[in-house]
Amino acid sequence: MSINAPEASGIEPIELSPSLPLPLYLQLAKHLRNQITSGKLAEYNALPGERELAETFGVSRVTVRKALSSLTAEGLLNKRQGSGWFINNSPHVEQRLSALTSFTEDMSSRGLQSGTVWLGRSISHATPEEALALNLRPREEVVRLNRLRLADTTPLAIELSVVPTKFLPDPFAFDGSLYQHLRNLGHAPHRALQRLSAVRLIPDLARQLELPEGAPALYIERRTFLENGTPLEFVASHYRGDAYDFVVELTLT
Ligand code: GLP
Repeated sequence: MSINAPEASGIEPIELSPSLPLPLYLQLAKHLRNQITSGKLAEYNALPGERELAETFGVSRVTVRKALSSLTAEGLLNKRQGSGWFINNSPHVEQRLSALTSFTEDMSSRGLQSGTVWLGRSISHATPEEALALNLRPREEVVRLNRLRLADTTPLAIELSVVPTKFLPDPFAFDGSLYQHLRNLGHAPHRALQRLSAVRLIPDLARQLELPEGAPALYIERRTFLENGTPLEFVASHYRGDAYDFVVELTLT
């Protein structure tokens, strides 16, 4: 990949002050974070060199490196050995929390192509937790679908979906949208309950999502129901924290 970095002078100048309660490296990280997330550096794929940044902001290289490392842990930058710090320009997706949509629909409404890398699909007995979530008898059979979900070529989420075999008898019968396949089988998802929490990615998940270990992510559990209220799907997913905003509409009751 060719390196396209702005001159350090192309990054908006700011005066960092040792007398502020925030350490210098966090002041610098905050400033660079604003520059990246506001799209001001969107035409570039890399940052200027550490020495140049240190000179521009009047701080040591150690301070620069600490600032860049903290932005890397947030998933905003990647460090490539020998070539410097790259800006992570992955797609950013806003999802309304009040609409029941599938991953495929979320991507296509933003002009992105949804993709799937299968990490596993099998039939097995429900665990006690899954049986409880899906209102099943102990050890009833379920299909387990483990998928890495992509927006164009960028990994966005890892989803482990569990669906009773009475609704999805064959885990190999489809490749694209699970929700479309369930609709085709006459089991349309109608309503869902979702719980979100912030987590740090464990090494395996971080590798699959191409993020550094410990990067922030959203852990989401979803229970999806048929129109008659029967649980259809139990999903545990990890979404990249740097690529997703969940938006809630609040109305006066
Ligand atoms: C979203 C939901 C999942 C659901 C998936 C279906 O990502 N969080 O619970 O399984 O959509 O997506 P698709 O129909 O593209 O397979």
